[in-house]
Amino acid sequence: MSASLPGGRDLDQAIAEGRRAYELDRKHVFHSWSAQAQITPMTILATEGSYVWDGDGNRLLDFSSQLVNTNVGHQHPKVVAAIAAQAHKLATVAPQYVNDARSEAARLVAERTPGDLNRVFFTNGGADAVEHAVRMARLHTGKVKVLSRYRGYHGGTDLAVNLTGDPRRFASDRGAQGVVHFNGPFLYRSVFYSTTEEQECERALDELRRVIELEGPGTIAAVILESIPGTAGIMVPPPGYLAGVRALCDEFGLVMIADEVMSGFGRSGKWFAIEHGATEAGPVVPDLITFAKGVNSGYVPLGGVAISEAIAATFADRAYPGGLTYSGHPLATAAAVATLNAMADEGIVENAARVGAEVIGPGLAEIAARHRSVGEVRGTGVFWALELVKDRATREPLAPYGGSSAALNETVAACKKAGLLPFANYNRIHVVPPCTVSDDEARAGLEILDDALSVADAYTD
Ligand SMILES: Cc1ncc(COP(=O)(O)O)c(C=O)c1O
Repeated sequence: MSASLPGGRDLDQAIAEGRRAYELDRKHVFHSWSAQAQITPMTILATEGSYVWDGDGNRLLDFSSQLVNTNVGHQHPKVVAAIAAQAHKLATVAPQYVNDARSEAARLVAERTPGDLNRVFFTNGGADAVEHAVRMARLHTGKVKVLSRYRGYHGGTDLAVNLTGDPRRFASDRGAQGVVHFNGPFLYRSVFYSTTEEQECERALDELRRVIELEGPGTIAAVILESIPGTAGIMVPPPGYLAGVRALCDEFGLVMIADEVMSGFGRSGKWFAIEHGATEAGPVVPDLITFAKGVNSGYVPLGGVAISEAIAATFADRAYPGGLTYSGHPLATAAAVATLNAMADEGIVENAARVGAEVIGPGLAEIAARHRSVGEVRGTGVFWALELVKDRATREPLAPYGGSSAALNETVAACKKAGLLPFANYNRIHVVPPCTVSDDEARAGLEILDDALSVADAYTD
């Protein structure tokens, strides 16, 4: 237990306040994605940099970046100061009015996005960004269907969760949103019986072509996919895949939507993960990019859609039928301006790339060699997944698809007990610290993970 909290806050008092917060939470707060009576949520008293303090005052290294959003770390002083300054200057304003925070945030996002994605429509988060991107694509093309990949996540609202290609969709699947799913590349669990990345790429593109042809290109507005699927497993696409999707969209007149809500703004070691898809022919430029999370590290809710000139032109003399009271909220966009400037000034994207290449990647490879529960390690930047398996030969997951298991729960508990807050999903543990994580912090976290994985090993065959 540490003596005091960041900012010199009295620890005993903070713990007492945290206990009251917990009691009130259990009485009155309804939690996301949870059976309300079965959870014991962790209280967080304070955060700073790569660390959080739990309700007992224990310091934990945050290898989750919360929900993979605190890309500049916790309580970044420049972002906190920008929010406070903006609150004093102009705390809120309706979306029809020009304000400097939103204009500058839009300029900075447009500057970072590839190609001619020069316009930005701001939303409150990722799911509504996806909803609006699809609406734009439908109105732009005059078509309805949207193809999205299995093993992907696009948000919790009705359309976004129907676009989602993982078990979070099942309870809300209406089968009537114009959504058609397809299989993307995932060599470790290849549905195409591939044995190499080249085969997987070629076969996944063949599959997408088949789906487009069989569904009828004249009925399809868009293809949406995460440039690197995040919560569904951090499967970095094989070289050529994203360029191949772009080519199919061009061939059949479909809008390509890259969902960068999780993968954007430094997470993958580049500003946008789509940059990893560049080939000798050049960069891959989608028509729309959805973003949220890292754009302002989640300090104030913000998302958005970066829009190509061609799609923006569709709404030049025709009203775009959509909006939000808080589109481009000044506190959120001021936080974005401070975040994006800090990222550039402090070399935060470069740090993510370097720590991934020099510390996390090699460290996880060593861990995989030591633990028979680790079936595969994959990722880039500060965006890594460990696939935990019961048996390396059969690749049977250590928790069922869409569920958890004693093996995973106990491994996560062992991490927390030793001072590491990991991100776990089904049979996977993700290593997704802030992009600002230092080499020493990354090494310290990997050491804890290394020890905790002996718990998972005990569940292997
Ligand atoms: C790729 C992707 N898209 C969309 C969303 C939804 O974002 P939000 O939770 O801000 O609505 C998420 C959230 O994790 C995401 O990872």
